[in-house]
Amino acid sequence: MKIAINTGGGDAPGLNAAIRSATLSAIRRGWEVVGIRNGYGSLYSDEPFIPLTRARVRGITLQGGTILGTANRGNPFEMPYKKEDGSWELVDQSDEAVSQFKKHGIDALVAIGGDGSMRIANRLSQKGVPVVGVPKTIDNDIWGCEITLGFDTAVTTATEAIDKITTTAESHRRIMVIEVMGRYAGWIALHSGLSASADVILMPEIDFSLESVAQKILEKEEKGESYSIVVVAEGAKEKGGEHFVKGKVPGQSEQLGGVGAYLERRLSEMTGKESRSLVLGHLQRGGTPSTYDRLISLRFGAAAIRAIENRDYNKMIVMQQNEIRRIPLSEVADKMKLVPLDGDTVQTAREIGICLGD
Ligand code: F6P
Repeated sequence: MKIAINTGGGDAPGLNAAIRSATLSAIRRGWEVVGIRNGYGSLYSDEPFIPLTRARVRGITLQGGTILGTANRGNPFEMPYKKEDGSWELVDQSDEAVSQFKKHGIDALVAIGGDGSMRIANRLSQKGVPVVGVPKTIDNDIWGCEITLGFDTAVTTATEAIDKITTTAESHRRIMVIEVMGRYAGWIALHSGLSASADVILMPEIDFSLESVAQKILEKEEKGESYSIVVVAEGAKEKGGEHFVKGKVPGQSEQLGGVGAYLERRLSEMTGKESRSLVLGHLQRGGTPSTYDRLISLRFGAAAIRAIENRDYNKMIVMQQNEIRRIPLSEVADKMKLVPLDGDTVQTAREIGICLGD
């Protein structure tokens, strides 16, 4: 048996733990393991694979990032090509990808990635590649899985950053706006904002009204609380408005960003208070994984090899009620797990007086 491991999309703390666990579990069964270098985009190169041995994965559980490298572009079904006139077109190169797997004798693929990677995994499985998916993303937005690897560390990083910003906000009696990642889901904003005692949390799930946010800040002022902490998800938008987009590169999803700077300006105008904003950005993707992320990553990696051993292909490993389960990749593709507005965490935020912008 020879298996390949791919890490796709944005990196997340815990990827290396998953690679190590899958590698060691496979080697224990007498299988050969290779990793795909820098994502599917390199499949067409002369040396697409890195041999994964016991020695290669030693000591990597505590390392952030991915020893394999990853890429946001490289979807074999939509490879960006620049035409002679300078415009871009997306070309389907999936047949070549499948033949590369065959040529190199790959019997099964462990696809570690986010929603985009699970969509690709599902399409590769339809082309006959035996695949098992492992859910990774700091955004925690993969449908069917209660928690994804990388989320816990990212939330802890964001919480610690907001804690630090709170002391300077208080000293200067300012509004501090902290823009966090999460794409179109508010998991990072809600969990870090709640944990770090934010006054306002704005998520993509609830379009915000500037008036409601300004009112919350002014109410605090009346009570003698002269600083405010606003945590905003990069995918949050104003009622009747659009997402804040920084740019779009062919073959990649849109780059979100800018809502924090907008709130800094508008809230200062509306409240007459000094305001500053900062974007936590890729800081949230870095660092050594938390104990929890290491554990779930190790469990996910080993579970993927168990699934391959059982020939239970075209499934994604998920965590449900702290149990490892497998669900069909076809159920996951093209869906997103948003923050449930009737859930206990949102209710808790409301009950302790946090403004959610509505
Ligand atoms: O999906 C993970 C994520 O970090 C998102 O939270 C963010 O919008 C995006 O990736 C950023 O991607 P890039 O690394 O291309 O800037």
